[in-house]
Amino acid sequence: MSKALAHELLSERMSEAIASLDSVPIARVTGRLIKVNGLMLQAVGCRFKLEQRCLVETAEGDMIEAQVVGFEHNVAFLMPIRRLGGLFAGAKVIPLEGDSTVQISSQWLGRVLNGQGEAIDDGPEIKGGERVSLEPKSINPLKRRPVDSPLDVGVRAINGLLTIGKGQRIGLMAGSGVGKSVLMGMITKNTEADVIVVGLIGERGREVREFIERNLTPDARKKAIVIAAPADESPLMRLRATLLCHRAAEYFRDQGKDVLMLMDSLTRYAMAQREIALSLGERLHLVVIRRRYSACYPSYWKEREMVKTKKGA
Ligand SMILES: Nc1ncnc2c1ncn2[C@@H]1O[C@H](COP(=O)(O)OP(=O)(O)OP(=O)(O)O)[C@@H](O)[C@H]1O
Ligand SMILES: [Mg+2]
Repeated sequence: MSKALAHELLSERMSEAIASLDSVPIARVTGRLIKVNGLMLQAVGCRFKLEQRCLVETAEGDMIEAQVVGFEHNVAFLMPIRRLGGLFAGAKVIPLEGDSTVQISSQWLGRVLNGQGEAIDDGPEIKGGERVSLEPKSINPLKRRPVDSPLDVGVRAINGLLTIGKGQRIGLMAGSGVGKSVLMGMITKNTEADVIVVGLIGERGREVREFIERNLTPDARKKAIVIAAPADESPLMRLRATLLCHRAAEYFRDQGKDVLMLMDSLTRYAMAQREIALSLGERLHLVVIRRRYSACYPSYWKEREMVKTKKGA
């Protein structure tokens, strides 16, 4: 056999051997489920990182996505993204690598999505897009543009007395039933923007359709992205939907578009954080969250204090 032929045969065998490796399952370190307490799952058996995404096996052979929200000694506490069902003692818990990511594209315009970035309307399937991490990116403060031009929100009282600037973030704080959602609808309807991102987080499920039908004209609907995670979604899904609203708004902002982003409500976002903290049973978490939010949103905590005082707690 000539040297060249032998070399060719060898390289063919090598490529066959390498190709056959693809069919060999890769060994994976998995944990196992030891306890389910309400929404909180407890797992042991491998090294779980805080905020790591995991897949939990069900009796039907499906996988439920969950996220590590805390740990104690060698026990990791996980919270599912969706409703639980079919879990059993000893179920496999598979840690996943990498941050939570979503694929964002201009196909999102005119669509209603859930906290996972999946369409929940009757439109066509959304395929492809730029993969971005859900983790918030920090911006160099020197690169932030100053707020120097006024934004017409179409409400004369706001334009005249509480003028909002382009690029400014504002909080709308008021008691229940005072008209926050209606005012946000008016702002959505009347503000000039290339893209509108609306997050409906933790509010009533019926309000999602109401908001779209009442406030988005057919023209506005084409440039609007509605991200909905109503109160019946898991707390993690509500938190994820909040992050998604911001990432979607940032994605279009980075393309040089004028983006109007509204979220109803921040209180429900804080409450989702609180639900997780309470499920963990750790007062410490409550204190941390309380400190974090009392610094940013004092009126929310003022409201909570009033409730506490009334009940004499
Ligand atoms: N400017 C207004 N004039 C008259 N009625 C209003 C006005 N704004 C809101 N309302 C009425 O008040 C009710 C409550 O409004 P809305 O749902 O916006 O309150 P909210 O502050 O968002 O409440 P929640 O905190 O419970 O979500 C609605 O039925 C709405 O029709
Ligand atoms: Mg409301």
